[in-house]
Amino acid sequence: MSVPGAHEPEWWRCAAIYQIYPRSFADGDGDGVGDLAGVLARLPYLAELGIDAIWFNPWYASPQADAGYDVADYRRIDPLFGTLEQAEELIRRAHELGIRIIVDIVPNHTSDQNPWFQAALAAGPGSAERERFWFRPGRGPAGELPPTAWEGFFGGPAWTRVTEPDGTPGDWYLHLFAPEQPDFNWEHPDVRADFEEVLRFWFDRGADGFRVDSAALLVKDAALPVEDPTQQAFTDREEVHAIYRRWREVADSYPGSRVLIGEVWLPDAQRLARYLRPGEMQTVFNFPYLECAWEAPALRTVIDDTLRFHRDAQAPATWVLSNHDVDRVVTRYGREDTSFAIYARHHGRPVDLALGTRRARAAALLTQALPGSVYLYQGEELGLWEVESIPDELRQDPMWERKGRNPADPGRDGCRVPLPWSGATAPFGFSPPDSAAEPWLPQPDSWKEYTVEAQEADSASMLSLYRAALHLRRGLPALRTDTAGLSWLDAQEQVLAFRRGDSFACVVNLSPAAVPLPLPGTPLLASGPLGADGELPADTAVWLAL
Ligand code: NOJ
Repeated sequence: MSVPGAHEPEWWRCAAIYQIYPRSFADGDGDGVGDLAGVLARLPYLAELGIDAIWFNPWYASPQADAGYDVADYRRIDPLFGTLEQAEELIRRAHELGIRIIVDIVPNHTSDQNPWFQAALAAGPGSAERERFWFRPGRGPAGELPPTAWEGFFGGPAWTRVTEPDGTPGDWYLHLFAPEQPDFNWEHPDVRADFEEVLRFWFDRGADGFRVDSAALLVKDAALPVEDPTQQAFTDREEVHAIYRRWREVADSYPGSRVLIGEVWLPDAQRLARYLRPGEMQTVFNFPYLECAWEAPALRTVIDDTLRFHRDAQAPATWVLSNHDVDRVVTRYGREDTSFAIYARHHGRPVDLALGTRRARAAALLTQALPGSVYLYQGEELGLWEVESIPDELRQDPMWERKGRNPADPGRDGCRVPLPWSGATAPFGFSPPDSAAEPWLPQPDSWKEYTVEAQEADSASMLSLYRAALHLRRGLPALRTDTAGLSWLDAQEQVLAFRRGDSFACVVNLSPAAVPLPLPGTPLLASGPLGADGELPADTAVWLAL
């Protein structure tokens, strides 16, 4: 199989990677849920957008208790999304268009419908089948208390008690996320061997890399301390790195350059950098950048810290504004508090969408001008906002129930609403014209102004800005390398101004008033109109040729 751009070694160092959340991208079969047929039909759109790779959220066979992050079979495509043949065709067609494919792998946990877990339930306490997971007797006189006091990330205890084959209440099993997502025991050789085979299965089909879900959580302290408020028993244990060293050997045994991208939510740059040591993963997601408030000094600190620790690790930085787990960037930047924390959302607070949009446009140019690779989450290029008005009975994210149906922190459905493609009424071209089924989450009526069709016709739209930026980024030598680095220019406190090499500069004004440009240059692209006198208005960014 031909691999696109195989002549470009380490293509992932500066790639623009588009994240597809398959159930919300495009619906090809008319059941109201996005699928691979929908993606296949829209590949030309992505090629035109100017991206280098697609990362797919899980497409595997799954009961969808956590939107596919509960994988029942890592070698099959969920019928909701299509077939393995379609996935193979998709990889082939994407490669023909010069787009690489990154697959999501979920190694920390599986689905309670995974045959291994079903076998473990049936085999009973003390069985070999249960050793692939974390089954333990409960505490208390009748085992009625969970083995540890650990809380799951979605809220509630991290343990669920099973009913044994003889009908009695029995052992408990560990699940750091929902009860439908039992954690694997990575000490078990079957688990290690099977995941290596899964990697090979997708590499053999042409996958260019993996995004590794919950990458810091896999290895647990087998002593299972009852109290563990700092989560040391299951987060970022040294033993986890041996797994990724092995995976890297597998990846490197394939032609081309295959990438491992870690989803590692650690606040500390030094700990993050350990995932990037030689022979481990090539990149990790930059969550500190995503979480940072829209304030120049804070962003500058995050950018400097990021570049420093990546330089030390000799790894390329990544820049991420949003994904399927976080409030959309337009909404975040339109709130009074523009920072973000994944387990403390602020739905219901006032949002100035016009302001948020202006800032998100500026942020797009800032993000794409930084050295390293960039991720963009589907719909970001359309300027979609967080839908806070989803009726409670339609909410699907398990966080909604498990966190006690909190309207201020209702989970992640609001960033997962199906994309608007065309037309003036829902489903806005998301499903074929004659479909009876409605989109799995309702789209706001006002999205008629945000469709791809409407934005293609408007040179001032968010889509036009993203297209222009991505194409320029591809063509500008200063932005096609991460080695040129970045040098800050003197500017006011609320202005970010930096050069990339000798011929390119980016200036972003985060202050509420227009500012003079700190250096002369020819504007290549701006996130909004520049002042008549060449001043940079509030919340506006410009790329300059020097
Ligand atoms: C991180 C994923 O991004 C999120 O969507 C998922 O719920 C958890 N990991 C558990 O797999």
